[in-house]
Amino acid sequence: MTLCDVPAVPELHPVLAERFSPVRFDTSATVTTNHVDALLEAARRAPSAGNSQPWKFIVARRGDTNHAQIVRYLARSSAQWAPGASLLVVNLAHVRVEGTEDWEFSEFARYDLGQAVAHMTIQGLAMGLDAHQFRAFDREGIAAEFAVPSHWEATSMTAFGTAAHAAGEIVAPGTSRDRESLDDITWARN
Ligand SMILES: Cc1cc2nc3c(=O)[nH]c(=O)nc-3n(C[C@H](O)[C@H](O)[C@H](O)COP(=O)(O)O)c2cc1C
Repeated sequence: MTLCDVPAVPELHPVLAERFSPVRFDTSATVTTNHVDALLEAARRAPSAGNSQPWKFIVARRGDTNHAQIVRYLARSSAQWAPGASLLVVNLAHVRVEGTEDWEFSEFARYDLGQAVAHMTIQGLAMGLDAHQFRAFDREGIAAEFAVPSHWEATSMTAFGTAAHAAGEIVAPGTSRDRESLDDITWARN
C-alpha cells in the first residue's frame, strides 16, 4: 500500500501528515542558533528508561568545521543530498554502561535515542524545518573523528533543512514511502 492509498485520518496532526524525508534540500536555507537550541531542547525533554537520557548529539551547520568533518564520512548515497541540508546532527547512543561487569549492554539506549530524535524532528517540523534521518554513513569513522568513546555509538544522522521538492516527487534510491495498513500494524484491538 502506498502512502497515497492510506486513508486520511482527520485527527492526525498536519505536521505528521505532511512529513516526508526530502532527498533534495534548498542549499541557500540556513538555521539559526535558536533553531539549534530548540531542537536540542526538544530532545532533552524526551522521556527515557529510568530517566537515563542515553543520548548526545554532534551538531553541524552547513559551512562550519564540524560539517566539513562529517561530510567526509557520508556514504555515496547520502553524499548526494545530505551536504545540502542546513544542519546535520549525528545521533549518539550510550549503549554500554561503563564500570559494570563486561560493560553491560544498555537495553533501551537506542529506543530512547530514537524517541529523542523523533521529538527533535517534530520540533523541527513545527519550526518549518524538514528532516531526513539516515544510517548511510561510516559510523565508526565519525565516532573516531569526534573522539566518541566505545561505550557510545554513532547510531544515525538527521539532515534538517528546507525541502526543495514535494513529498513523493523523488525518493532516495532503495527506499520507498509504502506503508502497511492500520489493520496490518494492529496486533490486537477490540
Ligand atoms: C533509522 C533510519 C535509517 C534510515 N536510513 C536511511 C538511509 O540510509 N538513506 C535514506 O535515504 N533514507 C534513510 N532513512 C529514511 C527512510 O528511508 C524513510 O523514512 C522511509 O523510506 C519512509 O519515507 P518517509 O520518511 O518519506 O515517509 C532512514 C530512516 C530511519 C528512521
